[in-house]
Amino acid sequence: MAPSPTTTTSQLHLMQKGGPFEFAQVPKPAPAPDQILVRQHATAINGLDLKQRDTGLFIPRWPHVLGIEGAGIVEAVGSDVRDFKPGDEVMACLAGRARGEDWGGSYQEHVNVPIDFFVAKKPKNISFEEAASLPIGYVTAVCAILDGLKIPLPFLPQTANSRHVPSSVLILGGSSATGAAALQLLRLGYPSLPIYATSSPGNFARLRSLGATQVFDYRSPSIVADIRAHQTPGSKGIDMIADFVSAGASQTDICEVLDPAGSKIYAALVTGVPVPVRDGVTHVEVDGWSIVDMQGGKSILPALTGLVEQGKYKLPVSVKVAGHGLEQIPKVMDEVLNLSGEKLVVKL
Ligand SMILES: NC(=O)c1ccc[n+]([C@@H]2O[C@H](COP(=O)([O-])OP(=O)(O)OC[C@H]3O[C@@H](n4cnc5c(N)ncnc54)[C@H](OP(=O)(O)O)[C@@H]3O)[C@@H](O)[C@H]2O)c1
Repeated sequence: MAPSPTTTTSQLHLMQKGGPFEFAQVPKPAPAPDQILVRQHATAINGLDLKQRDTGLFIPRWPHVLGIEGAGIVEAVGSDVRDFKPGDEVMACLAGRARGEDWGGSYQEHVNVPIDFFVAKKPKNISFEEAASLPIGYVTAVCAILDGLKIPLPFLPQTANSRHVPSSVLILGGSSATGAAALQLLRLGYPSLPIYATSSPGNFARLRSLGATQVFDYRSPSIVADIRAHQTPGSKGIDMIADFVSAGASQTDICEVLDPAGSKIYAALVTGVPVPVRDGVTHVEVDGWSIVDMQGGKSILPALTGLVEQGKYKLPVSVKVAGHGLEQIPKVMDEVLNLSGEKLVVKL
């Protein structure tokens, strides 16, 4: 006998490397004791999803459910869960499947998510579509600042493991979702810190509104000289760099903006493209998954809810809603490649 509709749910399956996608009706999963079951209302589409579709990266078996972040309503909770109840609106990093774990994948209607680290209440003042665009960029940016640059964020007191305060920071890829998140987190933590960023000129105004001291065009042939010329009197260069887009792989002289007497940290987000740095510069690889090993890591995503509700954290990039339903995803996902200052989201 066919199962009743209420006991099943829809998934979008990637059948093999390169596609095709197929729809599947599967039994609705029960949450493990430490998980909640979320009926999703929106999924973001990220660049990683396209990389996984095209290369099979991080996919241990087929078929596979792609997607690393989303937002929705809690439908059921595991036996050990106390902080969430059915009906709660939540946003989550759903990157478990991209890490070979047996949960997550946001291209499905119902998804299980462990409550530690990866899920938080949806801020009341934003939509499901906006909430679905936030978790990965925010968590990755926090990891870049705390773990990569080794700078404390005063509004995340449980994570404090360093007292180092930089004299200036350069963000490469300031208009990426992760870079723009890092920019405003640094500005929130350090109101007078010189924070420089790179982007296309069309994003300069937005990055200044998020707190950038000055923004530079990464396509300018004189970018290194431009950044050096902008230094305040007495400064011998930038203290540290955070690279969110592997910009240093093509801009190989970018380390020349560093102050020889400064921290000389180059924190590079893991994107699949290696970034060489010159001798004497400390290269630190950054990965959003490192919250699971971080002091106070469980406090990081829940803090985002209050930051957004208090108006302290804005959408790093605006949201482009590209239709409704799992069937839209294969049709629209390549739009990610042409976005600037936007994140693609599909309603579910
Ligand atoms: N390891 C992890 O945990 C993790 C987590 C999240 C993301 N990632 C990876 O990190 C990368 C960024 O992700 P994202 O979602 O933040 O990206 P995104 O929002 O898609 O950012 C794309 C933007 O980056 C900017 N950009 C591209 N090349 C640049 C360059 N050479 N210099 C400066 N800016 C440049 C462009 O800005 P303009 O439009 O202004 O030209 C482009 O629009 C991706 O490769 C993603 O897969 C890794």
